[in-house]
Amino acid sequence: MKKIRLFDTFAGYGGAHFGLKKAGLPHESIGFSEIDEFADIIYRLNHPGVENYGDITKIDEKKLPDFDLFTGGFPCQPFSMAGKNLGELDTRGTLFNDIIRICEYKQPRNILLENVKSITFKQHKDTFKKIISELNRIGYNVEFEILNSKDFGIPQNRERVWIFATKNEIPFGWKLAPQPKKLKGYFKDFLDKNVEHHHYLNQKQIEHLINKHKVDFNVNEASCLDIYNKKVRTDGISITLTEPHHNTLRVVEVPKNGQYVVRKLTEFEHFRLMGFEDGEIDFGDLSYSQLCKRAGNGWDVNVASLLFKRIYELEGLVLPTTIKQSSRVHAPA
Ligand SMILES: C[S@@+](CC[C@H](N)C(=O)[O-])C[C@H]1O[C@@H](n2cnc3c(N)ncnc32)[C@H](O)[C@@H]1O
Repeated sequence: MKKIRLFDTFAGYGGAHFGLKKAGLPHESIGFSEIDEFADIIYRLNHPGVENYGDITKIDEKKLPDFDLFTGGFPCQPFSMAGKNLGELDTRGTLFNDIIRICEYKQPRNILLENVKSITFKQHKDTFKKIISELNRIGYNVEFEILNSKDFGIPQNRERVWIFATKNEIPFGWKLAPQPKKLKGYFKDFLDKNVEHHHYLNQKQIEHLINKHKVDFNVNEASCLDIYNKKVRTDGISITLTEPHHNTLRVVEVPKNGQYVVRKLTEFEHFRLMGFEDGEIDFGDLSYSQLCKRAGNGWDVNVASLLFKRIYELEGLVLPTTIKQSSRVHAPA
């Protein structure tokens, strides 16, 4: 089978690469575009021999090799509810123009883009419409879908809009959304068995959380503390992972010796909740905060792999699945 030639922009740890691999689709990366020093390190470590073309605004599209698939989770801060919501007024919100400039010239067969759900909200409606109409203008059929990681096997409430643009005919009624999947486990099942001491909060820090947020840490199974909404989740699902400095998530363990137990999420737990199997990604020497920043910004590689399978059904590279319109179940298999 011919390899899919990938150009992976805003590449982070290479969620697109991992997704294609997980989907079992033969592929090779012709290059990536990333400006963050630590993302560059982790990308190269995991996908050796691929050239980083650097800042997308500086890429000369005429000098790029040909590719079949363009991917890009373009920066979400301009559209994120956690950010200032400046949209296109924030220069990072206009990086989409570079996606169009490159794809208009290179005309890859398929494009897969990702962003936060709020880019589809009322205040960014014009930007979102422009994204779709620009993709149409440069010759693509477009489908988009808001997907939540928890509907596809991973216990994380992570809603993202996925925009698929293709040169292929999209059959009438075809939807981008893959078949929903049962959870592989709940939040507690995705946690490490042995956690290093330094991840734990001391009793003074726990007291501070209780006084500030009026939360009860008397849980009977390890649960996710949603600091932003001041509650311990009881549905076995994690809140959306974000960069660790946002300090929105803590793990609340079952009290021990009459004392509450609260801690940070470990590196492995972050990556499991982004769809990785243990050992699937090489962390190299990256620090805790660099690794967790990458996870908070990355693609859920489980969702990415299901989307790639769906997309490549259109080209006959994957056998088609029948999508049942059943209700979305969260019970683990
Ligand atoms: C939301 S993250 C995408 C993560 C990626 N999809 C993954 O799976 O890890 C956006 C990335 O775009 C990078 N970035 C921001 N501005 C850029 C630019 N002008 N050119 C290339 N990369 C850029 C950031 O450093 C960040 O890693």
